[in-house]
Amino acid sequence: MQHLVTLFDISPTDVRRVLATALVLKQRLKKGDRPALLERRVLAMLFEKPSLRTRVSFETGIAQLGGTSLFLGEDVGWGKRESPSDFTQVLGQFVDCVVCRAKSHDRVEQLASFDALPVINGLTDVCHPCQAVADAMTVQEKFGDCAGKHLVFVGDGNNVANSLALICAMLDMRFTLACPDGYEMNADWIRRIVKEYPNAKIDRQVDAKAAVANADAIYTDVWASMGQEAEAAERREAFAAYQVNGDLMAAAPSHTRVLHCLPAIRGEEITDEVMDSEQSDVIQQAGNRMHAQKGVLVWLLNQAWIDQNITL
Ligand code: CP
Ligand code: NVA
Repeated sequence: MQHLVTLFDISPTDVRRVLATALVLKQRLKKGDRPALLERRVLAMLFEKPSLRTRVSFETGIAQLGGTSLFLGEDVGWGKRESPSDFTQVLGQFVDCVVCRAKSHDRVEQLASFDALPVINGLTDVCHPCQAVADAMTVQEKFGDCAGKHLVFVGDGNNVANSLALICAMLDMRFTLACPDGYEMNADWIRRIVKEYPNAKIDRQVDAKAAVANADAIYTDVWASMGQEAEAAERREAFAAYQVNGDLMAAAPSHTRVLHCLPAIRGEEITDEVMDSEQSDVIQQAGNRMHAQKGVLVWLLNQAWIDQNITL
């Protein structure tokens, strides 16, 4: 059964098909057209962590495609009231697909392992695949194509950075992480990217200004992710030289775009000045979550439509 637990589950060609689907659906929506490509399909949203964008964009996305969603919070007792196998197999009796945001990546892997229904990762400590698809869509809209572009992630080598590095390798983009020692991306994850995509252009720099010198897009995220709240003070100190501010932007080319997955802590990893500048695409990027995830849902649940309507 096809899942989207990480972007290793999807081929570069299918990522391109998802992006093309997302762009077509976005254009059609602008004209008031909401094609019922997933009529009466039901999407469960199993969330162990807070969310605005992921939850609302999936719920509105499936509704616009003619389906419906149901939010499953703590009260369903995932991992508490019954075995994971019973829980997942029963869920598969009712719904067509589940988006899961979990405290640990293993839990989403386990959910998918029963092959009871397609599982979409809505963020774990390891990665955030749907975010990266929306980010690639935003780069494509801004530059016409992702290939050959240079994305510089300034900040923690976290879940968002992991998915971005992978999608960059899949779409022939260069990825640079600018971070202090001790906050690099997981070495096994990078090794796996390079093994699957030997032409991947991934590097890491300590000096943020040097890193952004040739950037087409500068990307940042919070310094302490959900679950790392206890490390916030220590991380504020470690990342002090990695704020995306006017000074850093002055070291980048004038065409450079600014991205952030949000939520942001304004005044920490990014200043108001940059967030609200003409170079910032963060609101469009957040909006693209819905369009990109419509593409993912159609890819998982209505491949035939993509086969008939999308040519790359
Ligand atoms: N970027 C993102 O996933 O936002 P939420 O945590 O609000 O879903
Ligand atoms: N790295 C952040 C992303 C939030 C969308 C976190 O995991 O909290």
